[in-house]
Amino acid sequence: MTPPPASSSFRPRVLTGDTPTGRLHLGHYVGSIENRLRLQADYDCYFLLANMHAFTTRADKPDDIRRDTLEIVKDWIACGIDPERSTVVLQTEVPAIAELTWFFAMLVPFNRVMRNPTLKTEIDSKGLGDTYSFGFPMYAVGQCADILAFRPVYVPVGEDQVAHIEMCREVARRFDQLYCAVDSHAEDADYEKQGGVFPIPEALVGKVGRLVGIDGKQKMSKSLNNAIFLSDSAKEIKKKVGQIFTGRQSMTEKGDINNALFEYVRIFIKDEARVKELERAYAAGDNIGDGHVKQEVAQAIDELIGPIRERRAALEGKDGDKKIIEIIRHGTKRANKVAEETLAMAKDAMQLGFGGRNEMLPG
Ligand code: TRP
Repeated sequence: MTPPPASSSFRPRVLTGDTPTGRLHLGHYVGSIENRLRLQADYDCYFLLANMHAFTTRADKPDDIRRDTLEIVKDWIACGIDPERSTVVLQTEVPAIAELTWFFAMLVPFNRVMRNPTLKTEIDSKGLGDTYSFGFPMYAVGQCADILAFRPVYVPVGEDQVAHIEMCREVARRFDQLYCAVDSHAEDADYEKQGGVFPIPEALVGKVGRLVGIDGKQKMSKSLNNAIFLSDSAKEIKKKVGQIFTGRQSMTEKGDINNALFEYVRIFIKDEARVKELERAYAAGDNIGDGHVKQEVAQAIDELIGPIRERRAALEGKDGDKKIIEIIRHGTKRANKVAEETLAMAKDAMQLGFGGRNEMLPG
């Protein structure tokens, strides 16, 4: 879904985030980054580095998590996220998120969390078995706090995150009903008007909610080894696109235009007329080889990624890291202003207001 433009000069807030588990890939781009780029013109956008969440499955890998955290910011900036306009947020330096996580954990039944389909899929796909940490399912509650700390109207995400956003909406309704006397029959759009601390935020899924990986079967994902990264070279892109499996044998065999290769054709080749012609020729087996289609797809992907790769190169190295850390510090400071305000509102509503936090902190 394409996000609607905001109307007045007040810029409503948007929040989304990425877990630092590696560089971003094309699935992130079409699922969420494109929407973020559009939203940053009209909305006050907060982009969260969910580094706490990275520890829920990789507590033994702090140096990888630190590296991946910096890499993601580089990907964001390279894609066109503008740190002057949008705010980069480091989760572990926003204490309000950790506090809200606790409060929200009391508003959602334990079994409801464990039934969350995204968590279940992750337990399977990452092979977590039954030895995952207590913190792992907790991240789903933490994600409600990531979002609600910013009281956003929209959360641009890929399809796999929609279950989390749904839980977040339930938590927001529950909080507003319990502590702000919002009527349980209120429309979602009216919660704030009726005195709720939290709006009921909406997920915005990008034009391709689930991009198939180069294996032609599963969702594109770093851990499944089927991803084309935004930092891949032209050569790597060509090689990876070449691996997309179609099972077609010859240039004259009638091809299936619903296969993974043609999904890529429709997503990445911008010239509509060319897409139609490729579809026609392929379906008819009109002298068109998979190799040729792949070449055009690889070229189209390179046209998208090329400028991203170039901007990214300027951020590599020690100086690049310094610049990124500056962006994180600057953004997180801004973010804490909003999140602290939210936390104070939530505590007041819960009758936990005993005067300003600052007066009770030493020094
Ligand atoms: N769980 C998300 C992912 O893995 C990342 C994330 C953390 C997030 N906090 C968020 C996304 C808040 C949207 C809103 O992709």
